[in-house]
Amino acid sequence: MRSKLPDIGTTIFTVMSRMAQEHGAINLSQGFPDFDCPAPLRERVAHYLNDRRNQYPPMTGIPALREQIAAKVLDHYGCPADMDQEVTVTSGATEALFDAIQASVAPGDEVIVFDPAYDSYDPAIRLAGGKAIHIQLRLPDFHVDWQQVQDALTPRTRLIIINTPHNPSGAVLSAQDIDTLAALTRDTDILVLSDEVYEHMVYDGGVHQSVLRHPELRARSFAVFSFGKTYHATGWKLAYCVAPAALTTEFRKVHQFVTFTSPSFIQFALADFMAQCPEHAKELPAFYQEKRDTFCRLLEGSRFRYTPSSGTYFQLVDYSAISQQDDTAFVNWMTQHKGVAAIPLTPFYATAPGSTLIRFCFCKDDSTLEAAAAILRAL
Ligand SMILES: Cc1ncc(COP(=O)(O)O)c(C=O)c1O
Repeated sequence: MRSKLPDIGTTIFTVMSRMAQEHGAINLSQGFPDFDCPAPLRERVAHYLNDRRNQYPPMTGIPALREQIAAKVLDHYGCPADMDQEVTVTSGATEALFDAIQASVAPGDEVIVFDPAYDSYDPAIRLAGGKAIHIQLRLPDFHVDWQQVQDALTPRTRLIIINTPHNPSGAVLSAQDIDTLAALTRDTDILVLSDEVYEHMVYDGGVHQSVLRHPELRARSFAVFSFGKTYHATGWKLAYCVAPAALTTEFRKVHQFVTFTSPSFIQFALADFMAQCPEHAKELPAFYQEKRDTFCRLLEGSRFRYTPSSGTYFQLVDYSAISQQDDTAFVNWMTQHKGVAAIPLTPFYATAPGSTLIRFCFCKDDSTLEAAAAILRAL
């Protein structure tokens, strides 16, 4: 059969998790916790599963959950959102990203993407007939060169995709970055797709600069969030998109034919838990900062070089003092022969810069981090 994505193989996250399993390696590759989601939340899921909440929920998400989402974005970002016209529950942020791209990008449109980029953006743009314009984030801190963005804008630019906090680098955009993005898109019809799945993982007193805080950007943005990341339940694939009514109308036209809706009993459970436990999200930065600090402390004395991550639950490290192999060869060797799996950065680039950085995921029990670090310190 003719392939519409001939160059796309299996995503690196699946490849590395599978390799970790095959070789019995400690899996610090794919981004998921090895601890469970909160017990009261699981209790609510079981409750609704056994309470006959097992049929199609509304296409946009159940009202109680959309109400909680609207309350949350007001509380966290000072952003009023109309739960009926501006909030849509989706099956994972992956679906929300795909829907937003299909809804906004037409054949011939250009979409600005920052590399290293989460690997679902580019194929979704191409399936919409669009062209991804890849701009590399600047080392060593993976910041955006806004002049380069300005130079890349053309009359065909339709969408700019940002991701803060950023996977895989852990970089976070500043308020000044967000202001600059607003200035660059002012008086244009360029839309913004803001991937904010790590919104509650910003460290050292930093503030997550959601586009929802910025009225001008809010008016032209799809903002995407993930329950999976926030509630330690990546396997549930539940997420949401907040966007102005006109954008949401188009977004839902796609959503209704991609998944139509998402598991009912989990939506009911999340609505209850968000109402009962709003502090869960507020406690998350401290919780993950502690994990980051533990992991960085455990790496002391190793030959890896690193700057503690500013956000996300990922830590980049430079392995050039250990090996001169390329990043893919290095993580394969480490997984297969040393027993710790990580993610190389090359698959996140359209044109790989040949760096010696790899990504570890630290959203793991301390015992997992300790066992991994004992191996890593010996490399
Ligand atoms: C930057 C980024 N966006 C989106 C997603 C997908 O989130 P979900 O599991 O909710 O589909 C991930 C998951 O790792 C991610 O890292």
